[in-house]
Amino acid sequence: MPDVEDTVLVLGCGGFIGSHLAEHLLAESEHNVVGVDRVNAKIAHLLHSPRMEYIELDLADTNAVAALIEQADIVIHLAALCNPALYNTRPLEVMDVNFNKALPVVRACAERGKRLIHFSTCEVYGKSPAGLAPEGSGLRNDPEFFILSEDTSPLIFGPVGKQRWSYACAKQLLERVIYAEGATNGLEYTIVRPFNVVGPKMDFIPGVDGEGIPRVIPCFMRALLYREPLELVDGGRNRRTFIYIDDAIEGIMKIIERPGQSAGQIFNIGNPDNETTITDLASLMKQIFAQKTGAAVESDIVNTASRNFYGEGYDDCDRRVPDITKARELLGWYPTTPLDELLNRTVDWYLREYGDVRR
Ligand code: UGA
Repeated sequence: MPDVEDTVLVLGCGGFIGSHLAEHLLAESEHNVVGVDRVNAKIAHLLHSPRMEYIELDLADTNAVAALIEQADIVIHLAALCNPALYNTRPLEVMDVNFNKALPVVRACAERGKRLIHFSTCEVYGKSPAGLAPEGSGLRNDPEFFILSEDTSPLIFGPVGKQRWSYACAKQLLERVIYAEGATNGLEYTIVRPFNVVGPKMDFIPGVDGEGIPRVIPCFMRALLYREPLELVDGGRNRRTFIYIDDAIEGIMKIIERPGQSAGQIFNIGNPDNETTITDLASLMKQIFAQKTGAAVESDIVNTASRNFYGEGYDDCDRRVPDITKARELLGWYPTTPLDELLNRTVDWYLREYGDVRR
């Protein structure tokens, strides 16, 4: 067990997962939280806490970051550019933030003997082995080939010209550095691979509080709020498993509180029971939105080519279902929020936060 009053340094505290984590750390533990980010709108309600310190800093300031690591007991690295719309349009920035700016954090933890909990991504699995089997082959539906395990599944990316994989590749290389620092220099680390964490405060609504293309749930929310079409990229046939933010945070809290069980481990944090195609996700969100607003929903569901939606160099993961056996066994953790419930809660939050703009 860590000491109750340990200082937890959260790099990327102002983001979606970081803001929820800070909230839970303050409410459910006695740890002090030092949050680092360049923005703090999502944690504004926490800044009055005597156990919370917010520092506005870019991770490029490696000396300042190393000084904060020196003072911390546990370092949680969440800072990332993790929006697929950027991977093929701003690949240099994506690789810079997700590798170059993260590397000094890993090195500083290794040199100072600090415990590092690093957020990687399910994107490191890339495409599923099942998707590589020929069309019509039974292997496509063989769970052996689409249920992904931390220590045995291969990591499969597309060609270099498919810049979608710039993010996954940077994240994979960093995982390999962390693993090697553990093996060579004794770094105490845990790597977390979140699988499509969703819920209140994720991303932004384009044209309201951000510009560009957010991840799929805010994209569909915007379309519903503005009665615009929900766009299915390349037919919406690819699948994702969505996990509710509260379930994911519960897993992260268990990692923080159980250093013995989590040291030197990689954990999938996802909900294998919530798999859906993006087409079915669109229909379900449309139905939930209609129930909540009491109006017939005018938004159509339409197909769009990825080249038009994301630009050249986009590629996609066909299917990825997390194997969470390890987290169950070592942490006693498993998610409990089903897909319809997490969408209901998320749609409720968007309606409260942004209002039904067409009402
Ligand atoms: C995400 C991101 O890479 C990271 O945020 C993260 O590491 C990881 O996966 C995750 O969230 O855990 P992805 O799953 O592709 O990638 O995220 P979305 O942008 O939400 O896209 C999901 C699927 O919906 C993709 O097939 C995409 O093409 C599709 N989509 C997206 C649509 O069909 N319509 C839209 O309007 C938006």
